[in-house]
Amino acid sequence: MPQFKPSQLQYGGDYNPDQWSREVWLEDARLMREAGVNLVTLGVFAWANLEFAEGDYRFDWLDEVFEIMHENGIGIDLATATASPPAWLTVKYPEVLPVNQSGTRLSHGGRQAYCASSPIYRERAKALAEQLARRYGQHPALKMWHVNNEYGCHNPMCFCDVSAASWRRYLRDKYGALDELNKAWGTSFWSQRYHHWDEILPPRQTPDGTYPNPSMMLDYFRFSNDEILALFTMERDAIRAIDEVHPITTNFMTMKHTKFMNYWKWAEEVDFVSTDHYLIAEDPENHIDLAFEADLTRGWAKGKSWLLMEHSTSAVNWQPNNLAKEPGQMLKNSLSHVARGSDGAMFFQWRASISGSEKFHSAMVPHTGTDSRTWRNVVELGSKLGELADLVGTETESAEIAIMFDYESWWALSQKNLPSENISYTDVAHEWYAALWKLGARVDFVKPNSSVEELSRYKVVLAPMLYLISENTEAQLIEYASNHGSLVVSYFSGISNERDAVKLGGYGGRLVRDVLGVFVEEFAPLRAGEVAQLSNGMKSKTWSEVSSARGAQVLASFTSGAAKDSVAVARCGEVHPSWYLATSLDGDSLESLFAGIISELGIATEGGSGVEVIKRGGRTFTIDHNSDTVSVI
Ligand code: GLA
Repeated sequence: MPQFKPSQLQYGGDYNPDQWSREVWLEDARLMREAGVNLVTLGVFAWANLEFAEGDYRFDWLDEVFEIMHENGIGIDLATATASPPAWLTVKYPEVLPVNQSGTRLSHGGRQAYCASSPIYRERAKALAEQLARRYGQHPALKMWHVNNEYGCHNPMCFCDVSAASWRRYLRDKYGALDELNKAWGTSFWSQRYHHWDEILPPRQTPDGTYPNPSMMLDYFRFSNDEILALFTMERDAIRAIDEVHPITTNFMTMKHTKFMNYWKWAEEVDFVSTDHYLIAEDPENHIDLAFEADLTRGWAKGKSWLLMEHSTSAVNWQPNNLAKEPGQMLKNSLSHVARGSDGAMFFQWRASISGSEKFHSAMVPHTGTDSRTWRNVVELGSKLGELADLVGTETESAEIAIMFDYESWWALSQKNLPSENISYTDVAHEWYAALWKLGARVDFVKPNSSVEELSRYKVVLAPMLYLISENTEAQLIEYASNHGSLVVSYFSGISNERDAVKLGGYGGRLVRDVLGVFVEEFAPLRAGEVAQLSNGMKSKTWSEVSSARGAQVLASFTSGAAKDSVAVARCGEVHPSWYLATSLDGDSLESLFAGIISELGIATEGGSGVEVIKRGGRTFTIDHNSDTVSVI
């Protein structure tokens, strides 16, 4: 597998020269040199400017940009331009356009207007990738391939008839016999039993107040992920057949709400992991979210270095209120990613557009030009990254705490008809991470189904809302907790198997009942906004449950409501104690509980109270979010 081993940290951004004239390209190259830019991502949305009609390719302008970049010593991350099909393609073949859950066929004009299962889209995308690989695969400026862009961002699922046929093939492969499928989805409910494969449709919109079968929906998440991943591997293999040298990646999305792609799976297919991160501007603690996502990205990369392919110099254009970054914030954001393993800091985009719906998105060269705070920040960051070349390829010091992050639990919990609409997979995961961050405790992320050996590298493994649990994950966690380390598990974990069928005999199955020593009988969500007072003085929200300790030591119980006297927080086990949280503790209570766990398990902390201290490649990054200072020594 070709590796990406640059001599410098990578610095630059998405470059869309087809929006500008040749004079501007020359000016761009000069400014890129001034800012220390060494990599640009070229042509992400250029399909319509590269193929004017089917098979009518026009590469002259791209040839010229390649030469200009090369003459100026700037490397190219060449996009395959397949993220946004041109108008001619969808006019000629309207069946390429995606159909949403309620049956509306969507139009060209935004981006990613294609159905992942469409054979025509696949054929035309592959043909373009091959053309580009033949033409530029040997070019000395080429450093890597950037397939498509943020797969699944706007078209994570399609519900058209072509998708339906592909879905049925997927299900036949998965279940073999229809009876197996009926069993897996529990179709004896609401007359859902299938007697022929052709009766199975995608989970299209159902009558008001009812929703598709949740097990089917969960499989549709899996199918859609795999179908889109197949687009990536198709282009990857087409390029690889022509260019054996350059590494191939595609930019993932790490943001709190991007749930559709299971990046644990995707990470297995790319030559190296790259990702995009944008702050939720209105969140005053968005630097903690950034840290979460960057640590998660390092998890996908198996602890190795990765690349931040996009972030923003200042405001974005797509949030309700697009706040500008504060002085020093861009530098802190970039270095926080680098500290956590990124081999560079790339942006969307190099030069701010003057037209189109992203014209008010910040860029490295803003509308104002170089007489601007943004440009001065860009030059400063370029010079800072230039001093840190020794970090390339080094690893961030690993943590003693791991969080198990599970897309499938997230998918199952993003459906309807759960005990409460107020429970959120990501809220619990992020709240737990934030409490640890504030205590100065570092965190790695691990995937479900991690082996006991992998888990044993950690003193404690946290499982926030691990709702779906496979037999294997359950067995690994039980063995880990019995003989190797400590667990912290939240409510609504271990509830269902991989088919989203509830496990009987005490909610949470063997994990909660036998290992954590709590017998959960009934869920008792709290009222929206209600604060529960716990017996030990802590406060909590969202959830309670009727339960009793069966071997656990009760640290806190509910003092009122449907779950009065039931377990709120429990500890179980002597050599390797584990904890069960039957509720969402408020921020202070959670910090205090975690502080106790950290001290009991002898876990090292550094920084805290708004100061991040991260070690990578023999250097120490100290990022102070109180005083806005950053030091790397
Ligand atoms: C994504 C896309 C970019 C751009 C940015 C804007 O990350 O990949 O093309 O649209 O969002 O924030």
